[in-house]
Amino acid sequence: MPRVFSGIQPTGELHLGNLLGAIRQWVVDQDTHDAVFCVVDLHAMTAPYDPASLADATRRTAALLLAAGLDPQRCTLFVQSHVPAHTELTWILNCVASFGELRRMTQFKDKSGGQESVSVGLFDYPVLMAADILCHDTDRVPVGDDQRQHLELARDVAQRFNHRFGETLVVPEPAIPPIGARVMDLQDPTSKMSKSADSPQGTPLLLDPPDVLTKKIRSAVTDSGREIRYDPENKAGVSNLLEILSVVRGTPIPDLEASLAGAGYGDLKSTVADAVIEYLAPVQERYAALEDDPARVDEALALGAAKASSVADGVLRRVRSATGLLTRQ
Ligand code: TYM
Repeated sequence: MPRVFSGIQPTGELHLGNLLGAIRQWVVDQDTHDAVFCVVDLHAMTAPYDPASLADATRRTAALLLAAGLDPQRCTLFVQSHVPAHTELTWILNCVASFGELRRMTQFKDKSGGQESVSVGLFDYPVLMAADILCHDTDRVPVGDDQRQHLELARDVAQRFNHRFGETLVVPEPAIPPIGARVMDLQDPTSKMSKSADSPQGTPLLLDPPDVLTKKIRSAVTDSGREIRYDPENKAGVSNLLEILSVVRGTPIPDLEASLAGAGYGDLKSTVADAVIEYLAPVQERYAALEDDPARVDEALALGAAKASSVADGVLRRVRSATGLLTRQ
């Protein structure tokens, strides 16, 4: 079976964009691919963070992924720092990636802008991400639209490595869904929905209770017109709501436009709120059960780390041999 690999930062609180852009695909991929998913705790260290809460946030993020439908029997779910091959490959790829291409990464420019001191880790973030993908012989990487540039870098680095050292690494393809790949902030529909948004009101979280979800969605910013039409350029807020509804209901946007013809923005918001609450209910139920059973999460992660290590160690053996490192006897 072809392999998919993807990763997610341990924020401990996933939002609707994470689910619709990425995790939703991962759940489906478990039945069609050798599916490998990783909570990227080492990436979380590239920006200032609280050491006292990282482990907890990592476990909570893993529990949320299980609640969203990942099954440790049908996929590999693990924590990045538990598989040291990721960091070892990062060093080797650091010697293949160029300073110039990392300097051009928009995420680095956005995150480093205006900061007094920026870590080398933040600069090197995309190389660690390339190593994540490449040390699992990954064929496809299901992600949201914001990861496109990082994936392009991972492909470039793999191709350059193969050119320099001989065919060793699998060159991965991005898998970005046609709809839901860029869920926008409800309060500012011209910006991507994100945990670090200015206003938490614009970001529905997977564990928000129904009344909070309703409040956030009902206060979504829309335009001054009245027509419910998908037109992201001129009607960003309405289009975002239609896109969310389309994914959670599994209904194409033109059908939604037809069924909502003549309705007002208030009706659209209520419909979206009800649909999102229904979509998240089973996730919230499963999470509540897991929250009382952290040992189950730790067990799943231990199993995942063992499975992930055996693949990644094999890739690293190939890489060491291709790059001419002396074998340890
Ligand atoms: P992260 O943790 O920011 O996001 C996890 C996944 O959620 C997607 N996503 C969105 N999709 C649609 N709309 C949104 N508003 C939205 N916000 C987030 C992201 O595209 C992503 O797929 N660098 C990665 C983590 C990573 C990784 C990897 C991914 C590390 N190594 C290897 C793939 C392969 C990140 O920060 O994702």
